[in-house]
Amino acid sequence: MKLLKKGAEADIYLTLWNGNKSVLKIREKKDYRNSTLDRRIREQRTIRESNVMSDVKSFGVCSPLVYYVDTKMCKIFMQHMEGKLVRDLPNQKIIKTCEEIGKIVGNLHKNGIMHGDLTTSNFLSMRDKVFVIDFGLAQRTDKVEDHAIDLRLFKEILNSAHADIMEKSWGGFLKSYKKVVGLPRHNRVLSQVSVIESRGRYANVV
Ligand SMILES: Nc1ncnc2c1ncn2[C@@H]1O[C@H](COP(=O)(O)OP(=O)(O)O)[C@@H](O)[C@H]1O
Ligand SMILES: [Mg+2]
Repeated sequence: MKLLKKGAEADIYLTLWNGNKSVLKIREKKDYRNSTLDRRIREQRTIRESNVMSDVKSFGVCSPLVYYVDTKMCKIFMQHMEGKLVRDLPNQKIIKTCEEIGKIVGNLHKNGIMHGDLTTSNFLSMRDKVFVIDFGLAQRTDKVEDHAIDLRLFKEILNSAHADIMEKSWGGFLKSYKKVVGLPRHNRVLSQVSVIESRGRYANVV
């Protein structure tokens, strides 16, 4: 088993599942957390991630297939995607892909799912499709405030990791997000993003 990534939240291995190239995501015990709480958090995120990863397919969002879930051991075996992380694509490709990401996020929100960790490292581009991963912090919610948190984080990531293409990527993202959720909803979510941003600025001043 080859370690692909040791993350703050989980370790990712490349392995085989029933002969299929597979990614194993394990949430290991964290000693700094109370052990009962730790187990609950890891189990809950494992269950949530595998459920949401499967559910989103019903409304046309691409995500890896879930092969097997071991709740007690906090393990998910899933389809290994050969594609590239959107984060690592050339700039022009990132700009183009952000339009697709806007469509995907609009679709998630329209169907009552907040992703919870919208970064360019949680989208994989494979051939002509964009796959979403990392649903451990996803929530079922229709609240404008929650959807705005998703958008705010994505905007922040574009600002920090892709500053030179920020305007074009964000513009393309919003254009297709708006197409999916509709203008009134788009406006409400965006004005909530401004509220969050102004709170952030205020916090910096104080
Ligand atoms: N199904 C997959 N196919 C290919 N690579 C994956 C897959 N799942 C995760 N990865 C790789 O592992 C990294 C971390 O996985 P992720 O689920 O985002 O966990 P984390 O919580 O550590 O961010 C991803 O950014 C990606 O590079
Ligand atoms: Mg991730």
